[in-house]
Amino acid sequence: MASHVLLIRQDIATPWWFILRAFVGAAYVGFVALRLLAYLWLCLPRMPKGDLRRRYGEWAVVTGPTSGIGRAMALELARHGLNLVLVGRDPAILRQISDTIASLSELIVVNNAGVAEPGAVYLHEADVEAWARMVRVNVSAVTEVTAAVLPGMVARGRGGAVVNIGSAASESIPSLPVYTMYSSTKRYVAQFSRSLHVEYASKGIHVQCQAPFLVDTRLMFRFEEAAGGVSLFTVTPDAYARAAVAWIGRGGALCTPGVRHQLLRRMAADVPDSVHDWILLHLTTWNRKRRFSGSE
Ligand SMILES: NC(=O)c1ccc[n+]([C@@H]2O[C@H](COP(=O)([O-])OP(=O)(O)OC[C@H]3O[C@@H](n4cnc5c(N)ncnc54)[C@H](OP(=O)(O)O)[C@@H]3O)[C@@H](O)[C@H]2O)c1
Repeated sequence: MASHVLLIRQDIATPWWFILRAFVGAAYVGFVALRLLAYLWLCLPRMPKGDLRRRYGEWAVVTGPTSGIGRAMALELARHGLNLVLVGRDPAILRQISDTIASLSELIVVNNAGVAEPGAVYLHEADVEAWARMVRVNVSAVTEVTAAVLPGMVARGRGGAVVNIGSAASESIPSLPVYTMYSSTKRYVAQFSRSLHVEYASKGIHVQCQAPFLVDTRLMFRFEEAAGGVSLFTVTPDAYARAAVAWIGRGGALCTPGVRHQLLRRMAADVPDSVHDWILLHLTTWNRKRRFSGSE
C-alpha cells in the first residue's frame, strides 16, 4: 500500500516588525512589573519598633488627632515608643504649644488636620466663610506648624521628619470637579512638601507628603458616594496608619502608603486624563444631585 508523507516547510520568515513589536511589548510589561514590584517592596518592610526614635528623636506632633487618620497615626506612633504632642482645633492652644514644639529639636511632625466641608458644591455657590476655613486648616495650619518646627530642627542639626497628609484627590487624578477647593488645597500641600523636601534634605530633615486614596473616616463620608465603585480600595484608619508610619522617611517627597492604595495609584496613572475627567464629573455631580436633590 502506498503511503503519503506530507511535508510542511516552516521556513516562512517572521516579519521583523512583529519581532520588534513583541520585543517592545515585553520590555514595557517588564518595566511596569518592575515598577510595581519596587512600590510593593516599599510597602512590605515594617520599621522595627524604636527605629523611629533613633532616627528622629523621642517626640511626635500630630495635628487633628481626635478622629480618623490622625487618631490612628497618634496611636501607631505611640506604639513605636514616641511621646506625643496632640494639637486640636483650638487656635489659642495651638499658639500656646507652638513655642513648646519649636523648642523640640528631634521630632516627627504629622500635619494631618484637614476639612472637606462644604463638600460637593460648585464654586459659584461658595459660602466664602467655608472656603476660608478650608484654606485656614488645609493650607495655613500646615504652613504655620511646619514653619514653627523647622528652626529648631535646623539649629540643632539633628534632622527630623515632617509628614503632611495630602490626598490622591490632587496627586493621582487630574481633576475633582465640585470638590475643586478641597483638591486644590491638597495640591498646595503636595507642592509645599516637595519643594521643602529638596530644600531641607541636606540638613537631614525629611519632608514628605502622603497622598492616600479613601480611608474610612468621617471626612471620607463626603466622598464615598462619589467614589462608590472603588470601595474595594478603601482602608481602615488603623491599616492606613500602620503603612503611613512605616513610610516615614522612605518613599521620597510624595508617596502613597499601603498596598491597595499603591495599586490604585498605578492603575489610575494608566487611565487617560479625559477618561478620568468624564467619570469624575459624572460621579461627583450625581453625588451632588443626591445630596441637594431639587436644588438644580
Ligand atoms: N479619609 C480619606 O479618605 C482621606 C483621603 C485623603 C486625605 N485625607 C486627609 O487626611 C486628613 C485626616 O482626615 P480624616 O479622613 O482622618 O478626617 P476626620 O476623621 O474628619 O479627621 C479630621 C481631623 O482634623 C481635625 N480638624 C478639623 N478642623 C480642624 C481645625 N479647624 N483645627 C484643628 N483641627 C481640625 C478634626 O478635629 P475635630 O474632631 O475637632 O473636628 C479631626 O481630628 C485630612 O487632612 C484629610 O484631608 C483623608
